[in-house]
Amino acid sequence: MKKVAIVGAGQSRYGEFPEKGIKELFFEAYSDMSKSVDKNFDPKAIEAAYIGNLGSGGFQLGNMSALVAEYVGLSYIPTMRIENACASGGYALVAAIMDVLSGTHKVALAGGVEKMTDVSGLKQKYWLGVSGDTEYERLAGTTFAGLYALIAHRHMHEFGTKREQLSMVAVKNHKNGAQNPKAQFQREITLEQAVKSPIVAYPLNLFDCCSTTDGASAVLVCDEEVAKKYTDTPIYVAGFGTSSDYLAIHDRVNTTTLEGTRKASERAYSMAGLGPNDIQAAEVHDCFTIAELLAYEDLGFCKKGEAGKFLEEGHTQIGGDKPVNASGGLKSKGHPIGSTGTGQAYEMFNQLRGTVQKPARQVKGAEIGLIHNVGGSGGTVEVTIMRR
Ligand SMILES: CC(C)(COP(=O)(O)OP(=O)(O)OC[C@H]1O[C@@H](n2cnc3c(N)ncnc32)[C@H](O)[C@@H]1OP(=O)(O)O)[C@@H](O)C(=O)NCCC(=O)NCCS
Repeated sequence: MKKVAIVGAGQSRYGEFPEKGIKELFFEAYSDMSKSVDKNFDPKAIEAAYIGNLGSGGFQLGNMSALVAEYVGLSYIPTMRIENACASGGYALVAAIMDVLSGTHKVALAGGVEKMTDVSGLKQKYWLGVSGDTEYERLAGTTFAGLYALIAHRHMHEFGTKREQLSMVAVKNHKNGAQNPKAQFQREITLEQAVKSPIVAYPLNLFDCCSTTDGASAVLVCDEEVAKKYTDTPIYVAGFGTSSDYLAIHDRVNTTTLEGTRKASERAYSMAGLGPNDIQAAEVHDCFTIAELLAYEDLGFCKKGEAGKFLEEGHTQIGGDKPVNASGGLKSKGHPIGSTGTGQAYEMFNQLRGTVQKPARQVKGAEIGLIHNVGGSGGTVEVTIMRR
């Protein structure tokens, strides 16, 4: 099969930026991406742009891809907004990959942007609820924290997963995020702090939740032949997979498995000719701490029900045999919805090239990495495997 390569990747700082709008945030990511291309970067070579976005709290629901593309100087090219809830960025990446694979274009931009913090807390929860089954879940009054709390509860009931193990995810990811100059929360937390923080939706507390974030990211995808013009160390797309699932968790066969993750990863592993044991670094969708534990199991890193133990044994720490979320993950790096998937690609691009800004969170010698982006409580999932 023809190969597709990533030759540049950039990210804005993630956090709360009242002074910046989506255009400024996207410009920051795009300009960071342009600087990461080793040689001959030429904006005129970019033939199409796919931008992940959930609508930035309702402020820019229409025509946003053209808006941000024009703002960074990409005029008169096909642009498309990709909306698949929190997996919008991952699907934007896949759209760019498929575009290049099809031979339609040789160079395509995948990116994402979200501005979340301009919306009040209450309106934010209502807005984010559009990604669930609105006729049932939102009308029943659930939030995403509430839905993941149900999943966590069931996981604890079925497999004996401990509340402390949820908090251990947060402690690990804050430790990594403390080494990430672009993360929203660059501070470590103790297990005691994490366990004792205020309840949001039992059993999940504040430190089990990702935050709301402003941010953007951009990734340059191109044909393997064209890639040589830009760099001697391209990062190849080894395989990718996507899958949908029932949006409402009451419709699913199993509450403690994200079937979308299982299906998307099976497709990605099969295309890459690789398996979970080959993955040397992973960025997974930890919107809530339980979601990271589900990812270990559903991506095949450990057996069903054993994620808590797998974490406690240290496998997923930097220095372990399966480092997960060296960036700090959504928990500490932040979760600007539309940007999260391409933000994960930005991190993996740097991990595999050995160009992570602070050596403390560099996964040494990693050559094969996986990124995993989930929309809502699992209704859409994207998995991409990248190889140096
Ligand atoms: C967890 C959540 C409810 C907290 O919201 P909130 O109570 O309105 O919190 P605030 O924004 O008022 O922040 C209060 C404090 O907690 C901190 N904080 C907020 N969210 C945090 C988080 N997730 N982790 C750690 N600290 C957090 C803030 O920095 C602030 O600290 P400060 O007082 O020192 O400045 C909110 O961030 C949330 O809804 N997160 C989930 C978003 C989501 O569902 N995304 C989609 C996933 S599918």
